[in-house]
Amino acid sequence: MAARSGSGVGVGVGGGATLRGATVALVSFAAALCCLWTEVLHRAFTFHSHRPAASMERNLQLVRNIVPPLVADKHKGQDGKIGVVGGSREYTGAPYFAAITSLKVGADLSHVFCTVDAAPAIKSYSPNIIVHPVLDGQTAAEEVRKWFPALHSMVIGPGLGREEKVLQNTKEIIRQSRAQGMPLVIDADGLWVVVQDLSLIQGYTRAILTPNVVEFGRLYQAVLKSPVDAKDYQGTLLQLSQALGNVTIVQKGKIDLISDGTTVLECSLEGSGRRCGGQGDLLSGSLGVLAHWAFSAGTDKTNGLNPTLIASFGACALTRQCNYQAFQKHRRSMSTSDMIEEIATAFHKLFES
Ligand SMILES: *[C@@H]1O[C@H](CO)[C@@H](O)[C@H](O)[C@H]1NC(C)=O
Repeated sequence: MAARSGSGVGVGVGGGATLRGATVALVSFAAALCCLWTEVLHRAFTFHSHRPAASMERNLQLVRNIVPPLVADKHKGQDGKIGVVGGSREYTGAPYFAAITSLKVGADLSHVFCTVDAAPAIKSYSPNIIVHPVLDGQTAAEEVRKWFPALHSMVIGPGLGREEKVLQNTKEIIRQSRAQGMPLVIDADGLWVVVQDLSLIQGYTRAILTPNVVEFGRLYQAVLKSPVDAKDYQGTLLQLSQALGNVTIVQKGKIDLISDGTTVLECSLEGSGRRCGGQGDLLSGSLGVLAHWAFSAGTDKTNGLNPTLIASFGACALTRQCNYQAFQKHRRSMSTSDMIEEIATAFHKLFES
């Protein structure tokens, strides 16, 4: 009994010692693991906060915040009535692309104000767009102004051309839209108009300019009287935006850079190497809608950031995602029409899932 019990105790003690040993080992292993885990977490966190992917995800979330919910009691027009100023004898595709994009992104109504020549072509591309053949007339600005109560934002420049009468009329339309406090997206030959008369947008913080590299250089030269420093894209962008009185600029390129004179956002979402003409119209058209949504949502939804920045980031991300998806299907034969076909799924993927 004693022996058995002793042996039992012995076994017990021996077992206890092994167990204690194992426990000690386990505890120190756990402690080590814990330190390691803390270290991993720490590194993941600090590393993550500096990764473009982290700010990319944050910015995408801010765009999701400004997308209006599709509820049953909405009435027509509430989600956006967009005016596109552009379309000339030569260029009828650009204003069509911008206008149809604004509809496909979620605007309820889309108007094009174009020259008399351009109107039949644009009308024939789509019955979804309202076309006003007024842009080369004597009373163009007046005709456009009549529609101001029925418009939330304006996209100025797609396919505008360089005809003097049209440029003068566009100047007046910019002045009057600004007087209304309307968000303005200015692209292509709309930027040409602005370069001729910088006072049109100087200090107007509801304007968003979307220059490509050439247009950016031209604007920079006009404002700062010196050529662009190609080594410092962010610096020159900030400088130009501030010199214009903190007007938001979207510098389109390999990476899109966006600044309101205070903050610089980057959009480097993967697109493709394909750069067919018309992609800029997809950007300006979507930006017309997103700018309206962002200003309507207010700065609490954009985390205190300028609504123009969030709208611009959203438009850049969407354009790149459409490019990516269209390229997967069409490769080298991809065109802007193919990208427009992708808006529904690209928008859903980025901003609704
Ligand atoms: C533009 O923003 C910068 C940086 O936030 C600020 O210092 C400057 O005063 C602003 N300029 C104007 C004209 O508001």
